[in-house]
Amino acid sequence: MDLSPAIPATAGQPLSLKRPVLVLDPASPDMHRDAARMRAAGPVVPVTLPGDVACWAVTRNASARIIQSDPGTFSADRAHWRALKDGEVPEDWSLRGLAVPRRSLVTVDGLDHRRLRKPLASAFTARRVEELRTYIETTTARLLNVLAATAANASGGVVDFRKTLAWPLPMTVISHLLGVPQRDHADLRRWCQVIFDDTQDPADALMAFHDYLTRLVALRRRAPQDDLISALLSLPDDQQLTDEELIPTAQVLVIAGHETTVHLLVNGVRALCGHPQQLELLLRGKVSWETAVEEILRWQPPTANFLARFATRDVTVDGVDIAAGDMVMLSYIAMGRDEERYGPDAGRFDINRVPRSHLSFGYGTHRCPGERLARLEGALALRALFTRFPGLALADPPPRSPSVLMNSYPRLPVRLTPSADRPTADTPAEV
Ligand code: HEM
Repeated sequence: MDLSPAIPATAGQPLSLKRPVLVLDPASPDMHRDAARMRAAGPVVPVTLPGDVACWAVTRNASARIIQSDPGTFSADRAHWRALKDGEVPEDWSLRGLAVPRRSLVTVDGLDHRRLRKPLASAFTARRVEELRTYIETTTARLLNVLAATAANASGGVVDFRKTLAWPLPMTVISHLLGVPQRDHADLRRWCQVIFDDTQDPADALMAFHDYLTRLVALRRRAPQDDLISALLSLPDDQQLTDEELIPTAQVLVIAGHETTVHLLVNGVRALCGHPQQLELLLRGKVSWETAVEEILRWQPPTANFLARFATRDVTVDGVDIAAGDMVMLSYIAMGRDEERYGPDAGRFDINRVPRSHLSFGYGTHRCPGERLARLEGALALRALFTRFPGLALADPPPRSPSVLMNSYPRLPVRLTPSADRPTADTPAEV
């Protein structure tokens, strides 16, 4: 059944935001089918987001690199967005919180961006991230005990992997870094659920989140602790962030620091359960878990579609005319399975693939500063999970989360079956 109202590009006519090749639908059952349609239509194609908001989708790595390495032409600053300036973006737009966030490193370029990003970048150097290895391993081991105990007490031995491990692990790690108390995790979880749901107005959740961080920052200002928020507050005078910068920055770190890693873990378990022969190679040490994480990120990018950049002038990319003020979306889900780049079997999950760098962490000056941490969490958690429960199997497959931006599932029921019951054949279908 074809649920997404695709509008074919009219042959001979130039691509235009008025003639989208696809209307993205949060209820679409298959993001990869949608991504394939965008990719087939070209490297830069017009699409419509939920809420009837138009933008260009970039579907190829090479085009994304051009756009993301030229912040002068493709700015992160929402002030360039013509539709926003002209009042065409609905006030209660469900994607407003992600597309038009408060000012932080995500929404600025140049010197301002360097100033806001520098103190974060130093928190995620190779050395600093490596120092977290033991903490991640210990937290994972503790959560695996919870997973086992929950399964033992559940009917049919089925446990929600997302709720019990994939969500609490990255949230605990980023909270440990930032100094967010564990007792507040339930609130953060509730707010994020709304923020990433394309069918809900996120305004109240965003405000509650912002108020919460305002209180936390005030608390750390009065009584500093050994954490990143306190470190940001004690920068030298000439590098200080204002509260209007610091609070949204902390919000970006909490959200970006856990949400996408949750999807990496969930999608990783789905991919490896669907490909037991490849899981076997990992368990026998024939392929590294780090390599598998790269393939998971390519095949199932956590951030399916990323908003956004804004054209500061009329410009042509790959033969497509983008007008000053247009919004540009980076479609990592389309780029990840590009046959021109990854070969005719780009749609196949294969941890033996000769690695060719994916762009799932972005590119250029805004490239994800947390990528090392995400990779480490992914490799350690998946290795510990499958080493302890090699027979883990998916239970009832869940429907996708209602989002056009996140490649995510609200639950992942799994059964911790004994290894003897392990399936041995890879599933032929793409998932
Ligand atoms: C698998 C997990 C993750 C994925 C797939 C991911 C992906 C991305 C992507 C696509 C961007 C946008 C890049 C751009 O605008 O060009 C980004 C930015 C960002 N990410 Fe991540 N990320 C992940 C984990 C993390 C973690 C663990 C942290 C924090 C510890 C983090 C913090 C950030 C921040 C602060 C930015 C904004 C950077 C800027 O605008 O300069 N991310 N990430």
